Amino acid sequence: MTADHTASLREIADLQEFYMGAAANAHALRTDSAYRETLAEEFNFLTAENELKFGNLCPEPKVYNFGPADELVFFAKANFMHIRGHTLVWHHQNPPWLIEGDFNRNQALELLHEHIFTTMGHFHEEIEVWDVVNEPIEADGSLRDSFWMHTIGPDYIEYAFRWAHEADPSARLFLNDYSAEGINSKSNAIYNTAKELLALNVPIHGVGMQMHIAINGTEKLAKPPDTNEMYENMKRLGDLGLEIHITEMDVAIQNATGSLEDRLRQQADVYERILGTALRVPQFKACILWGVADRYSWIPGFTGHPDEPLIFDQYYQPKPAYESIHRTLEAMLKTSSVS
Ligand code: G3I
Repeated sequence: MTADHTASLREIADLQEFYMGAAANAHALRTDSAYRETLAEEFNFLTAENELKFGNLCPEPKVYNFGPADELVFFAKANFMHIRGHTLVWHHQNPPWLIEGDFNRNQALELLHEHIFTTMGHFHEEIEVWDVVNEPIEADGSLRDSFWMHTIGPDYIEYAFRWAHEADPSARLFLNDYSAEGINSKSNAIYNTAKELLALNVPIHGVGMQMHIAINGTEKLAKPPDTNEMYENMKRLGDLGLEIHITEMDVAIQNATGSLEDRLRQQADVYERILGTALRVPQFKACILWGVADRYSWIPGFTGHPDEPLIFDQYYQPKPAYESIHRTLEAMLKTSSVS
């Protein structure tokens, strides 16, 4: 698969202590050997796509099923990959008993504490990076309503980070959100939230930018961010001392014009532009794709249209986007070995 190259993406990334990752799912891992091979060969970082979400882990109160998440962690460790825990606190994919229950603030705090300690305790020092709070901010910059927000109040975020740090002091803790890559009301609110948390000595180590985008945008997916704005946004977060990760990147081609070949080339350009810009920010440490190959991408199901948003095709063949990422990572290697 990488016959034209002397090095895989992960080999180049390893040399730079950079995370080049993919979201993985336990079903594909179990059933598809080409999936396993591509994942282990090309990526040094794995995010659990769904297996660590509260609703999947804890279908009944106090009953945790770690099986599928354990499979992913076992695979990652066997292949010397780093792991992201996604995600401890979210408005979505929560267990029905939680969202349908009638809990007061103290009970909700107890549930939050129990969930964080049970989950991070299980993977203690194995999962290095956690998306502690996922998608807490609305497009207008206000705090999103969620089970946690309306039972606990805005300080649920602070509690979650403090408890996550207590549960595993070695873990690096992130706030993760989407459509906040450039400069807008949402990214301003994320910047201000991170700054306030740091001022309160809350242990937050980084901000994740999901980067679910489409070449020309679609009804449901944003256009690629303006790269000058993205640079400014990443830089201001980096200046706070935070690490920045692209956490869920995919580039949908469904609304682009031209032949398939043209659209795949445009897609490769978008990957190159985004990654190349981000790499100019010293605190940018990870580029994680939201899937290994087009075969299992969430985009067709979400948008209702066929798509090919990732860097390997249905048959695990590298696409032009693979080449452009390879080139961009190699250029980074050359620049840093000169400086
Ligand atoms: O596992 C069940 C299966 O048993 C059932 O037959 C099938 C029928 O619908 O559903 C399966 O569950 C689906 C699950 O993915 C696993 O494939 C859910 O319906 C579906 O809603 C779920 O979608 C996931 C989505 O989060 C949920 O919001 C996507 O796979 C996952 O890629 C997506 O990931 C999110 C990140 O966590 C946060 N950022 C945005 C990103 C994309 O939405």
